[in-house]
Amino acid sequence: MEKIRIAILGFGQRGYIYANIIKSHPDEMELAAVCEINPVKKPFIMQMFDIKEEDYYTDYKEMFKKGKIADILVIATMDRDHYEQALTALELGYDLLLEKPIAVEIDHCLAIRDKANALGRKVAVCHVLRYTPFYRKVKEIIDSGRIGKVATLSQTEHIGYYHYAHSYVRGNWRRADASAPMILAKACHDLDIIQWLIGEKCTAINSFGNLFYFKKENAPEGSADYCYKCEIACPYNAIEFYKSHPDWFMIFSLDPDVGKVLSDELVNYGRCVYKSDNDVADHQVVSMVFASGATANLTVTAFSNEIHRGVKVHGTKGEIAGDLEEGRITIKIYGEKPETIDVKAGETDLSGHAGGDVRMLLDFARNVRSGEPQSGLTDINYSIESHRMAFAAEASRLAGGKVIKL
Ligand SMILES: NC(=O)c1ccc[n+]([C@@H]2O[C@H](COP(=O)([O-])OP(=O)(O)OC[C@H]3O[C@@H](n4cnc5c(N)ncnc54)[C@H](O)[C@@H]3O)[C@@H](O)[C@H]2O)c1
Repeated sequence: MEKIRIAILGFGQRGYIYANIIKSHPDEMELAAVCEINPVKKPFIMQMFDIKEEDYYTDYKEMFKKGKIADILVIATMDRDHYEQALTALELGYDLLLEKPIAVEIDHCLAIRDKANALGRKVAVCHVLRYTPFYRKVKEIIDSGRIGKVATLSQTEHIGYYHYAHSYVRGNWRRADASAPMILAKACHDLDIIQWLIGEKCTAINSFGNLFYFKKENAPEGSADYCYKCEIACPYNAIEFYKSHPDWFMIFSLDPDVGKVLSDELVNYGRCVYKSDNDVADHQVVSMVFASGATANLTVTAFSNEIHRGVKVHGTKGEIAGDLEEGRITIKIYGEKPETIDVKAGETDLSGHAGGDVRMLLDFARNVRSGEPQSGLTDINYSIESHRMAFAAEASRLAGGKVIKL
């Protein structure tokens, strides 16, 4: 079988995940090139993934000067870089696995979609949840008609207090002007799933939310600006958290000395969570109505002990309730005995977004190799809908909950 050659632009947390998936499927895929701007990472990446000097780039413009050097380009740089990089890569002839969000302005998202369609390129947006056995099962049950017509759907995303602090208070997504509003950066996945499960266009949306807690007025009295100087017991103590979670620490540091790294005040990950320069919402609710009159709501919150997603679907003949991380779905057909499905049973790989990462990459690679038209679940032509919804939700939130028609 001819191997599909994949290049990765942006070798951070996501780039590393995709490289590992490629490495673990050597019969089908090959990591053809890497472009990563951070020079410190170069020796590790080259050694770990057996990349030759001539296949390693630190400047994407240099890589693009070589033309199309792989079948697929994975774009896993930060949100604001996607637009220009995706447009250039499409012109060069690449099919793209494009990290979400597609871009941070709706016009830019549409421009990428239109260019892909005009040039006949494939673009899969990394809405990995569609590929999880869990959500595929929920979709299959809805489409089977067992619960009748969907009237109401309720999705919750519990970000997890420590994950929120890592990414949205101290990390890359803490400021909307440097990345994207939280509802786009984090919850475009949820909006995408809601729209996919209901299977109709969203026609109106409104949203409330704000930065409720991670701000100066909530700092405990006597707290320091950085955790390494602070003597107050706190669930957000960065030194304690990263010492006990080395996998999270490695996302931003190759130096394993947590105490040393986090006593450098230029490293944002050691900052007090109440005294950072964050401005994105820490909780948000979104209400939606769809073409048939079906409604949905989404709650996204930083305030949860665990990271998990849940969904409830209320149909005219029955309801479904499930939890992604538990991997269990309960179906209650009205008047009948409830049935519970364990979606983990028989599944061998549930790593990375409950199995979504590996299934999405394999599906896209196989589709590109087949030469057939794009067939995957996360074609940019579908993903554009969730992005429209996210932009509308943010516009509504900023306008105090105004209804936005789509
Ligand atoms: N699909 C998902 O579920 C999911 C989950 C997390 C993040 N993401 C998205 O994936 C993207 C990457 O997120 P991440 O968590 O991997 O971030 P990250 O910061 O860990 O990785 C980004 C990498 O890109 C590199 N980079 C930045 N500019 C570059 C340039 N010009 N040329 C080459 N390399 C460059 C950085 O040095 C870094 O290593 C973001 O858009 C994010 O929103 C998606």
